[in-house]
Amino acid sequence: MNLTKTRLAGLTALLAGSLLAGSALAQTEVKLGYALAVDSHYGVAANKWQEVVEAETDGRYTFTHFPSSGLGGEREVLEGLQIGTVEATIVSSGTLSNFVPEAGVFDIPFLFRNLEHARAVMDGEVGDELLTKFEDAGMIALAWGEQGFRHITNNRGAIDGPDDMAGLKLRTMENPVHITAFETLGAAPTPMAWPEVIGALQQGTIDGQENPLSVITSAKLSEVQKHLTLSGHVYSPAMLLVSPDLWNGMSDEDKAAFTKGATEAVTAMRGFVDEVEASGVEELRAAGMEVGELSDEQKAQFQEALAAAYEQYYGQYDRALIEKITAVE
Ligand code: PAF
Repeated sequence: MNLTKTRLAGLTALLAGSLLAGSALAQTEVKLGYALAVDSHYGVAANKWQEVVEAETDGRYTFTHFPSSGLGGEREVLEGLQIGTVEATIVSSGTLSNFVPEAGVFDIPFLFRNLEHARAVMDGEVGDELLTKFEDAGMIALAWGEQGFRHITNNRGAIDGPDDMAGLKLRTMENPVHITAFETLGAAPTPMAWPEVIGALQQGTIDGQENPLSVITSAKLSEVQKHLTLSGHVYSPAMLLVSPDLWNGMSDEDKAAFTKGATEAVTAMRGFVDEVEASGVEELRAAGMEVGELSDEQKAQFQEALAAAYEQYYGQYDRALIEKITAVE
């Protein structure tokens, strides 16, 4: 009797062990890289993406997060996707137009009226069509996320108009549209990968940078920057992508799970951005930043000062596309 019991227990353990081994074999690791901390809008999106995919696929995909640029700058991570060393990422539009030039149209300053307008464009025909263009660049773009509107921080002084930009050593993303804009305004744009930015601000090799409130708060830029100008000079989209290696090996059901996860991640991300838009300025004031906001009149002065840059953009991007974007309600 005792012997039978022992054998049974042994068999059960063996069976459980082989089941576990079987499920472990069937699991695929997804390395997910992003530039900001886990408690940022990127982390919120990453967690939601993981949660939905794991639930929809009965845990056949396991996510390993690499927050805070743990896999390098955004350009490096996108290159990792192309060659299959990284499975998934959430990135800003910083370097996207270096891979799909058309994506740069969203980086044109003062193109979007407000978050509602931007979201309607990203969720509509124009946004959807641009997502499909990434496949030819060796990446699978599943959804547009968002960071908010970008604002300028610096240690030199308040910015009340375009003249205050003269000679300002401003870190920009490695983004040709942004670089053109700041050059046209007379600043000294310094394109730099994000992992180098805090050090450069601390050492004073640059005076400032520009990013949305979601980034300024989560990266604690108030510790290294004195002035914040709510310029809202450009909308800052984000994107959720996976590698073709991962995607092409998936069943249609698994692809649907990743797409559903990405869509829900964007909803969570936008919710987080809405909260930071409401509370971020007070938080940054309390942390010691001096905050100014450009009036509509001052924004119009910036747009006038950008006239030569707009001429360049109109040569580069289809004017009908720009008009289609501005016409979206
Ligand atoms: O400024 C940037 O490079 C981006 O906005 C950041 C902070 C890496 C988030 O994607």
